[in-house]
Amino acid sequence: MPEEIASEVSRLLEAIAVADDAAGLEKIRLEALGRKGIITAALKSLGGLPPEARRSVGQEINSHKTTLQNAIEAKAEILHTAERDARMKAEALDVSLPPQRVIAGKLHPISQVIAEVTAIFADMGFSVAEGPDIESDELNFTALNFPPDHPAREMHDTFYMADSPEEAPMVLRTHTSPVQVRALREYGAPIRVIAPGRTYRSDHDMTHSPMFHQIEGVMIDKSTHFAHLKGCLHDFCRAFFELDNVPLRFRPSFFPFTEPSAEVDIGCSRQDGRLIIGSGADWMEILGCGMMHPNVIASGGLDPAEYQGFAFGMGVERLAMLKYGMPDLRPFFDGEPHWTRHYGFPALETPSPARGLRI
Ligand code: DAH
Repeated sequence: MPEEIASEVSRLLEAIAVADDAAGLEKIRLEALGRKGIITAALKSLGGLPPEARRSVGQEINSHKTTLQNAIEAKAEILHTAERDARMKAEALDVSLPPQRVIAGKLHPISQVIAEVTAIFADMGFSVAEGPDIESDELNFTALNFPPDHPAREMHDTFYMADSPEEAPMVLRTHTSPVQVRALREYGAPIRVIAPGRTYRSDHDMTHSPMFHQIEGVMIDKSTHFAHLKGCLHDFCRAFFELDNVPLRFRPSFFPFTEPSAEVDIGCSRQDGRLIIGSGADWMEILGCGMMHPNVIASGGLDPAEYQGFAFGMGVERLAMLKYGMPDLRPFFDGEPHWTRHYGFPALETPSPARGLRI
């Protein structure tokens, strides 16, 4: 038996030497010193020995026990130190590193496009004006030369405010065009302003949302004419779509507040279901515009015999979808973080036509 124990002990000592983690070492400890371990078994078997042998064999077993205990303790200390060193290394913090910029939020594409459009028109000398979402029927329609029976005044398209007086109804503005009149009344002429903001129509399907965004533009002076409008919109589209050349088509149209009126299409092509702006045989409508109707100039408190100007209005969601290849309007308003993370923009960058609109 003593030889057997000696060989078991030397096997365990070898295992202790190569154990590389605390769990492995604990297993060896149980095998050596546990209740079912070899030392316990050997001590138990002492009873079966002749009395004269018990003492010396007992001493021998105890000395094996001490050897194993010491080896295990020493190894545990080594493993503990190694583990602590590794943890300290992993958790090391280099305080000399510059602070990391962690930007969790993203700018919604609507905010980004408004910032881009604003930056481009600011470069052309336009200021930004604003008007309220809840607007008078007078400014939303009458001052903009809508005849009393114009279909846009129907309940069908317009959200009328329930409690507003019948003789002076209030509406959720159906477009940003009332800001034209507000700006003229407030600032007079000459004037160059754009007016981004929320607009509302009672319409909800794949391509319409009851709340959406527009950007209005107005320029008035004594000799502003249609070629100024064309040049301004050409420059805008080149800057916005970041292309040297964009074909634009001015298609005759009708708006009560402009005469003549036009809708502007941008040249595009479709490849594998993808829309490519700026070239090809197709056209895509991007905005409405025209020369301001004399009645609107008069609504703004100016003499239409003295002043003339142009105006335009565009849909922000549409611009965003065209520029950034976003196929669906609906997720714009879902507030879904995955979507914003994918389609959103760095929150702390300011678009600049000179530096680039997107960072
Ligand atoms: N207000 C028009 C709309 O909501 C857009 C528009 C067209 C605005 C022509 C204008 C303009 O200023 O001149 O559809």
